[in-house]
Amino acid sequence: MPRLISKPIPSSEITPREVYLNRRALLAAAAGGSALAMMGKAAFASGLRRPLEALPNTAPKISDTPTDHDLATSYNNFYEFGTSKSDPARNAGTLTTKPWTIEIVGEVTKPRTIDVDQLIDMGLEERIYRFRCVEAWSMVIPWIGLEFNKIAALVEPTSRAKYVKFVTVNRPSEMPGLRSDMLDWPYTEGLRIDEAMHPLTLLTVGMYGQTLANQNGAPVRMIVPWKYGFKSGKSIVRIEFVEKQPVTAWVAANSREYGFYSNVNPEVDHPRWTQKRERLLPDFFASRDTEKFNGYGEQVASLYSGMDLKVNY
Ligand code: MTE
Repeated sequence: MPRLISKPIPSSEITPREVYLNRRALLAAAAGGSALAMMGKAAFASGLRRPLEALPNTAPKISDTPTDHDLATSYNNFYEFGTSKSDPARNAGTLTTKPWTIEIVGEVTKPRTIDVDQLIDMGLEERIYRFRCVEAWSMVIPWIGLEFNKIAALVEPTSRAKYVKFVTVNRPSEMPGLRSDMLDWPYTEGLRIDEAMHPLTLLTVGMYGQTLANQNGAPVRMIVPWKYGFKSGKSIVRIEFVEKQPVTAWVAANSREYGFYSNVNPEVDHPRWTQKRERLLPDFFASRDTEKFNGYGEQVASLYSGMDLKVNY
């Protein structure tokens, strides 16, 4: 499988965190204030964020500039904290994200529990990815993380491991949305093993040069850039290598609307949202053509050769 980077990059070339601080924060910093303190409500809900060092962007280059930090941290889907886009930024501050471990179990030779700080110590890369929601909006986000295949290498999946299941934390005392029965909690997602092992698939611990904001899935989430955003589960506590295709939360809730694969595909409409066009936020009014596999076809189309993607939506 092709690697996206071939040699280590000296720390002198690491992108400075300031590049990603939003305009408001930069102005505040210039005025001598604390940038983080000036970020306002979004920072309040974000929990205690800290800078992360990472190799500069190792993702395939895209022409769009990253979405404003404040928008990416205030317009979210995280139903454990409510169903409106502003609920996660308002409510996710209650989530305790430290200490945090992920249990990695199932069809593996060396099951283990790993602390998020150990993941960070394994070395991080920045990946500026298009991020596309099934609701037909998109953003461009500088994520920070490590290829999921590096985690898999630690636990050594057996030949019976055909799929990977990702399970979100289930803490009713900290997550008010769990009182609703809109989904079978905890939120679960899944990938076929070759999708999980693909070098674009990122176990993500940061964004915009810092650790993740709580509303974006702190302290650790998945990012699978060629799939609709709901495939990228947040605040993960368990990863299971399994033999059978897992029944994921959205498939269990409504399999007509949400398929297991959910690759971004302009040729397959969602019953409620056409997927032919998308709005790159913050521009809610202009739309543009959706690219198949969210623009990552060159890298991932071969995973699906011979498959009918209208059947396997
Ligand atoms: N993960 C959990 N645990 N709970 C959720 O409700 N929402 C999904 C996905 N991961 C969700 C989740 C959906 S629908 C989307 S579009 C993305 O997270 C949104 O990620 P963002 O808020 O960082 O943009």
